[in-house]
Amino acid sequence: MAKISIIGSGYVGLVYCAAFADFGNEVVGVDIDAAKVAALQAGHCPIYEPGLPELLERNLKAGRLRFTTDYPTAVPDSEFVFICVDTPASFSGEADMRAVRRAAAMIGEHLAGDTVVVNKSTMPIGSGDLVTSIIQQHITNGATFSVVSNPEFLREGSAVHDVLHPDRIVLGADDRATAERVAELYGVLHAPVVITDRRSAEMIKYASNSFLATKISFINEMAEICERVGADVTVVARGMGYDARIGGQFLQAGIGFGGSCFPKDVKALAHMAQESGCHPQLLHAVLEINTDQRRRFVQKLQQHLGDLTDKRVAIWGLAFKQNTDDMRESPAVDIIRMIEQRGGEVRAYDPAAMENARALLPYTTFCDTPYDAVRAADALCLVTPWNEFKQANLGRVAELMRSPLLLDGRNMYDPAELHALGFTYVGVGR
Ligand SMILES: NC(=O)c1ccc[n+]([C@@H]2O[C@H](COP(=O)([O-])OP(=O)(O)OC[C@H]3O[C@@H](n4cnc5c(N)ncnc54)[C@H](O)[C@@H]3O)[C@@H](O)[C@H]2O)c1
Repeated sequence: MAKISIIGSGYVGLVYCAAFADFGNEVVGVDIDAAKVAALQAGHCPIYEPGLPELLERNLKAGRLRFTTDYPTAVPDSEFVFICVDTPASFSGEADMRAVRRAAAMIGEHLAGDTVVVNKSTMPIGSGDLVTSIIQQHITNGATFSVVSNPEFLREGSAVHDVLHPDRIVLGADDRATAERVAELYGVLHAPVVITDRRSAEMIKYASNSFLATKISFINEMAEICERVGADVTVVARGMGYDARIGGQFLQAGIGFGGSCFPKDVKALAHMAQESGCHPQLLHAVLEINTDQRRRFVQKLQQHLGDLTDKRVAIWGLAFKQNTDDMRESPAVDIIRMIEQRGGEVRAYDPAAMENARALLPYTTFCDTPYDAVRAADALCLVTPWNEFKQANLGRVAELMRSPLLLDGRNMYDPAELHALGFTYVGVGR
């Protein structure tokens, strides 16, 4: 069993703290956010992620897992140090590497013996070299180390499941033996392992996310064509998805992708492509279509309500997807801001993300229940497809609304059922 430090206790780092401890390793989670560390030490999980609180609790109790803000009490003793800090998009679209640089410097200062440093954060191509050189500059005691790239593919909302059942483990290293040492940490999972050089591993992550984002923008473009030619994109996607070469996943038309990964990773890859002399037309189109989906959704609302001034609009769902409280790049934010800028009054409800949404949406009213949100509303917009909304009593909703107009941003409902309840139903591409 190994001694592991995990730098960054966010959506990725925390799940790995819990999972590696659960495999029997001795794990320390290191974060600069003292409030987060205090909450974790007290046994509170600071994020909404199904299954994570139980996994954390079990391993904290077993004494295999602890959290600290203090690098010196974690790093020197570790055989493996995972970097899981945030790499958000910067103003130019480029990945913001400040947290990685800072983490690498701190690791360098406190390394001892021989250590494998694992880049799990999504980092631009060439970051393996950057992290190596920063660590090297900060070593004062003769410690030795190698850097392995090990990009992460988990999805928020099913992160625990994804970490325990990965499709593949990607490892990029200068030498195969070091990659194999990291592979052993994942041995219990019996997943396919791809061992390659660091740059190819870094590129696999960006190419994978960009491909998935492309599928979403592709089907959204098909949705617009479907609307104009009188076809139903949900059936078109089903008919396409049975083709094994295409596959049905990520072919749901809607208001587009959001979250902490797809938008920033496509932007970062486009930026890297441009910097290296390419013209990434497809990536630009993917991003443009995605932004247009949000705009088009609000245009549809205007087509039905006319001037939005003093119109009351209920929003169901704020998180960028179901089963998470993450609001980063959530389509809900742009949609709500556009409605409010046009004079509309927004009443919103989300089962998990309202606390995080408050800071981003100061003019929005947050409601205790989905029914409270729709009271006297001129329209209801379904933005995040939580199960709670699937199971809602829509008959009651129609009665509570001023006019039962439903814009289904995720094509979650059956239009015929909604019509039968007296709704005007507007989906995406159907
Ligand atoms: N969230 C996802 O679904 C997902 C999936 C795959 C890959 N990734 C990638 O993983 C990385 C982490 O993403 P996340 O969503 O977990 O981010 P996050 O913002 O939830 O967590 C990052 C954590 O790192 C901490 N931190 C920042 N600088 C630090 C430092 N110098 N030392 C110690 N801690 C520090 C922050 O306080 C925060 O708790 C990103 O590169 C992201 O692109 C994320």
